[in-house]
Amino acid sequence: MYGHMNASLMTPGHPQFMARGDGARIWDVDGNCYIDLMCGWGPVILGRRHPDVDRAARRALEDGDCLNGATPAMVELAELLVETIAHADWALFAKNGTDATTLCLTVARAATGRRKILVANGAYHGAAPWCTPRTAGVVAEDRAHLIYYEYNDVASVQSAAQQAEDDLAAIIVCPVRQDTSRPQELPHPDFARALRMLCDTTGAALVMDEVRCGFRLDLAGSWESLEVRPDLAAWSKALANGYPLAAVTGSDWLRSAATEVFATGSFWFSGFALAAALATIRLLGAEEALPRMHAAGDRLRAGLANQAASHGFAITQTGPVEMPLLAFADDPDHTVMRVWAELAACHGVYLHPTHNWFLSTAHTDAVIDEILDRTDRAFNDLSNRLQ
Ligand SMILES: Cc1ncc(COP(=O)(O)O)c(C=O)c1O
Repeated sequence: MYGHMNASLMTPGHPQFMARGDGARIWDVDGNCYIDLMCGWGPVILGRRHPDVDRAARRALEDGDCLNGATPAMVELAELLVETIAHADWALFAKNGTDATTLCLTVARAATGRRKILVANGAYHGAAPWCTPRTAGVVAEDRAHLIYYEYNDVASVQSAAQQAEDDLAAIIVCPVRQDTSRPQELPHPDFARALRMLCDTTGAALVMDEVRCGFRLDLAGSWESLEVRPDLAAWSKALANGYPLAAVTGSDWLRSAATEVFATGSFWFSGFALAAALATIRLLGAEEALPRMHAAGDRLRAGLANQAASHGFAITQTGPVEMPLLAFADDPDHTVMRVWAELAACHGVYLHPTHNWFLSTAHTDAVIDEILDRTDRAFNDLSNRLQ
């Protein structure tokens, strides 16, 4: 098993092979049902088997796929993204988040004629040699022009920019610090503004990696509330409610560079995922989806805080409520968290011990209450085990 879907990275109580999903629930091949808090690690934002999204994808498939060219859905989706995303003047499409983050850097280099990229230490931007967290098969040259900075540390990003001298092509950043196995960190407004200013003064591109946060926090862009807009953004995961799709959006000054870059893949033009994305983005805009996810996140966070306190556990809950993460105090190796996550799985809640979770609009109040009923039992079992 490869990558983050290797169940051994979770707990012995988590299944490796899954059979099906519906709404907020998934079933493993042994027939066990779980209320899901991982949403396929982010893509599922409207719940699994959403009828409108699936109908749109099915209709596109009925017209055939792999048609030697794009369907009109590609143009409609590009127009919808340009209408929806504040910084976007154009869009192009790919398949995975890694395609999109890598393309952003290529476009920035093509536009500026420069080489250096500033990257936050510990940030995940995908599985290509320039960014994979494991270095097997990676050679130093793959990362020769990367300079690392600390998230939320203005001095460190300024010092990294100085090291780049007049060769700075881009700064890449995630809307929230979500490095695995550490608490999530929201961006300090000063940090966000400093990145924008550094790019403005040096002529580099600010690249926002929206692959994980995109469309859950703000449809117009995750840093809209901070009034900081990127020049390029990478999107995937929630874009098409689970259908395989990624996008790059960009500002006008990067349009001709994006046109010059040779960007393609055998499956990048297939119509069904584009049709699914059109339905997904329209529904997210029309159904008050984001406030509903936020309210569900508040309900979950408050419930977990009460339960932990009533069972005598000190916990922290970090990150946006729509993308929660719980950790136990004094548990640096996540030993207690792993036991609790396994107990939650035994009680039918699928959540991750060290990676942020994801909510969808299928997480209604009733579903959140059902989750809380089960996590309460997990806290109870944990306190019995630790006695
Ligand atoms: C922030 C971020 N960027 C990029 C990626 C890479 O996306 P993909 O796995 O679709 O290539 C991920 C995937 O988890 C991610 O969370």
